Amino acid sequence: MKDNAGYVYIIGAGPGDPELLTVKAERVLHEVDVILYDNLVSSELVGQFDALKIYTGKRKDKHHFAQDAINQEIVFHAKLGRKVARLKGGDPYVFGRGGEEIAFLRKHGIEYEIIPGITAAHGASAYTEIPLTIRHVSSSVAFCTGHPLDKIHVPDADTIVYYMVASSASDVAEALIGKGKEEKTKVAIVQNATRYNQKIFAGTLGELRDKDKKVVSPALLILGENITEFIDDYWFGKKKRVLIAGKGVNRYENDEYVVVRYSCNDFKHNEQEHVKEKVEDISEELMLLFPDKYAVRYFFNYLFEQDLNIGDFVNTVFCPVGTAASAELLKHGVLPDLCLDAGTSEEIVVEMKSLGITDENIVIPCSGFIDDYLVDELTSLKNSVIFLDVSVQPSSTPDERIELDCIDEIYFSSPECVRLFKTMYTEIPEKITVRTADSKTDVEYMTLFDASLV
Ligand SMILES: C[S@@+](CC[C@H](N)C(=O)[O-])C[C@H]1O[C@@H](n2cnc3c(N)ncnc32)[C@H](O)[C@@H]1O
Repeated sequence: MKDNAGYVYIIGAGPGDPELLTVKAERVLHEVDVILYDNLVSSELVGQFDALKIYTGKRKDKHHFAQDAINQEIVFHAKLGRKVARLKGGDPYVFGRGGEEIAFLRKHGIEYEIIPGITAAHGASAYTEIPLTIRHVSSSVAFCTGHPLDKIHVPDADTIVYYMVASSASDVAEALIGKGKEEKTKVAIVQNATRYNQKIFAGTLGELRDKDKKVVSPALLILGENITEFIDDYWFGKKKRVLIAGKGVNRYENDEYVVVRYSCNDFKHNEQEHVKEKVEDISEELMLLFPDKYAVRYFFNYLFEQDLNIGDFVNTVFCPVGTAASAELLKHGVLPDLCLDAGTSEEIVVEMKSLGITDENIVIPCSGFIDDYLVDELTSLKNSVIFLDVSVQPSSTPDERIELDCIDEIYFSSPECVRLFKTMYTEIPEKITVRTADSKTDVEYMTLFDASLV
């Protein structure tokens, strides 16, 4: 790779379970500057990485990016010399339009590589115990799309996996029967494969056609004699689903549980508007603390988007952490007022203490990740500390609501997490066991949910 040339990684994120990401993909996602991710990639997965995150999937309130716009966005970031990850659900080359994106990159002379992912069919197969091949039963497999129905393929394969069948499963069944498949052919619909809310419907094509079954996206249909008697007793179905609101605890780090994370950072995101006002009111005295070079880069993108000008920040102390952040600031024509040598949050705190930094309005540009330790420690030095999310889009997709009927246990790590949870979910179903980190959290839970702990 040439110095300062952009580079693009087209990466498969796997079908949903965040741990199904490859080791290579994980390493690269830690190294890139920008992640453009689609709607099949969970915010829990992208939330682990510090890069600027751009959501390119569908949104309730806005139109999603059209493929052309995604192509342009990838090239835009690459041409600025950034390392870009294009993160797609499953595998990029299985119904993933990876080929179109590569063609566009080639046209623009941008270098790239492709990191495969586990496609939904493989994830669903393993997490439902439906082998795609079985000796003497099925020796060929085909992957097809479930639409358009009038052109549906029925290849001559023992096992056929139909992608993109949500909301039309009975129509798909009818179309397949119409194309000569027997009504007694075994089928399984797997919804949300490999995720905590995975659901299966297993039966015959005839039953599926008559059932008018509502299928929720993402779902796929597997057809063939390989659907075994284990379908009601598969390993993944036996695990307890635990929702951890806030910080995790060791007791859930074992194979008994499927862990769903509920990020309580959003609590502080509510203050985003207030932070924006603070930054926009540039007459106020501020200290801008840049924890790394990315914070500097994205802060300047943010200014550009908000129509703000760096020349207006006359009363601001620019404080980069480390030489890379200082150099990045200089690139943008800003001479740092105060440079910290620190590498970690702990070292930042030690340096701030020794410099006697107190009573400051500290604004820390970030891309969605809030460092609670830094907030607590700098606040205890009597500073006002706020994180400014400078990512282009929010790092979580707002329509991702947790299906509480699939959860067995909830763990609240702090009273704040209980309060945030209550703003989204007014009730907790009775069958769910609730545990809390300490007595303050207990009290908050019992008060807000009018409940008693088990
Ligand atoms: C546009 S295709 C993308 C496929 C993806 N590239 C892959 O390799 O899995 C979207 C379809 O993949 C299937 N799919 C993706 N993730 C799934 C999941 N977790 N469970 C079931 N089906 C899934 C569904 O059929 C969905 O409509």
